[in-house]
Amino acid sequence: MFGRVKPLDAILATAEKKSLHRSLGAFQLTMLGVGAVIGTGIFVLTAEAAQKAGPGMMISFIIAGFVCAVAALCYSEMASMVPVSGSAYTYSYAVMGELIAWMVGWALILEYAVAAGAVSVGWSGYVVGLINNAFGVHIPNLLVRGPFDGGLINTPAMLIAGLVTWLLVIGTKESATVNAVLVTIKVLALTLFVFLALPVIKMHNFDPFAPLGFSGIGAAAASIFFAYVGFDAVSTAAEETKNPQRNMPIGLIGSLVICTVFYLLVAAGVIGSVGAQPMLGPDGLGLEPGSSELAAKCSLISDQAVVCSKEALAWSLRQIGWPQIGNLIGLAAGLALPSVILMMMFGQTRIFFVMSRDGLLPESFSRIHPKYNTPHFITILTGIFVAVFAAFFPVGLLANISNSGTLFAFGAVSIAVMVIRKTDPSRHRPFRTPALFITAPLSLLGCLYLFYKLDIKSQVLFAIWAAIGLVVYYAYSRSRSHVGRGLVEVHEDDIDAPDLPVPPLPGID
Ligand code: ALA
Repeated sequence: MFGRVKPLDAILATAEKKSLHRSLGAFQLTMLGVGAVIGTGIFVLTAEAAQKAGPGMMISFIIAGFVCAVAALCYSEMASMVPVSGSAYTYSYAVMGELIAWMVGWALILEYAVAAGAVSVGWSGYVVGLINNAFGVHIPNLLVRGPFDGGLINTPAMLIAGLVTWLLVIGTKESATVNAVLVTIKVLALTLFVFLALPVIKMHNFDPFAPLGFSGIGAAAASIFFAYVGFDAVSTAAEETKNPQRNMPIGLIGSLVICTVFYLLVAAGVIGSVGAQPMLGPDGLGLEPGSSELAAKCSLISDQAVVCSKEALAWSLRQIGWPQIGNLIGLAAGLALPSVILMMMFGQTRIFFVMSRDGLLPESFSRIHPKYNTPHFITILTGIFVAVFAAFFPVGLLANISNSGTLFAFGAVSIAVMVIRKTDPSRHRPFRTPALFITAPLSLLGCLYLFYKLDIKSQVLFAIWAAIGLVVYYAYSRSRSHVGRGLVEVHEDDIDAPDLPVPPLPGID
């Protein structure tokens, strides 16, 4: 089972030969991380976290941030040692063999593609709210919410997924500057929110602090973990990084620290200014976010609670007397969230590309468009799936499903980094995870805990997805694997591998 390991030296040689242009520095990597991380999590899921934990969601942000920090430290050692594309998939291939690598790559599909769907739904919530509040145009719920959320089809979410797919297919380097601007807009929007909300905090809004107990805080942490997903996009850019040995860890940890500080301030602002107590059912338990029960109870009070809002931050500002700034925040989210969708979908195509290069997925997945020089086939396929997820599923469920895949991948990296310390102790490690045999087990335990605290639907869907993955592996990929067929040397098509256009990375000109 663990026999098919792709030798690390072959992976590194392949990367050398393929040599993507190394252009990213520490600052740009950090910007890339912040660009990929800040999104629907803080702008939208804050309301879901409040519904699960009440003001205790501040602890949830800390728990999720802590798990990400220890996982990022493990990622950093692997990313600096194996600075090539493919992130957790590639690391697992080198350390734990093909089957585990396949399962990790399969789980990363959840992480990236489903996350892109979640962010599309989040975008839709803000844009619909903006159209309603700024222009007085009310679009019926039927057309802007999925069937589980009091509607029929989320048309705006579907449209934005389609638009981003098109942008990726025609892949332009020029939009890099636009993306730097979008990251700035996002950060400014959150800063503005904090400045307006913090001064009107009322301490009684923090009481009761944990209405649903620690169990609620844990469940909210499992959901809000989504707000941190994306920092590993930094490690997928390793092949394009200058001096990755120094810059990768700075990029990973730096972006995480910046985001955590923002998240805590924003959460405190929401709780303190408008209150964030959950809606309870007749049994005294919290109603499930994204459920028809919660939608029905919210409609009784005309959605006048932050836990009912699809645009938590804009809604809060309108409540505290800043309707125009609320609309501005809506506009900022509307402009900036598509860059997160783009990063997620780009990450997805990169993973598919590497898996296809290894022979585990059909060669057509790495087919390149003759004119645009992008992997158009796999981009369009990914786009179709993302659009379908976005059209029909509620944001919280998509986020939780995405989290399940991410937690699996993070857990695998935490194991891989310990294994390779033992099996290959003398290999040069430009970055060593501090106290590895404490940090990595903490990361693994953290991932297991958060997975356990996900809702049952997401856990079951993850299990089904993993089972399908195993079937595909044994029915298709195993016999076609290049490693399995002995093609572990640097093969010709790697040398001529298309230089995928650099994505429109935030902060890079
Ligand atoms: N972390 C990203 C977000 O919150 C995926 O949207």
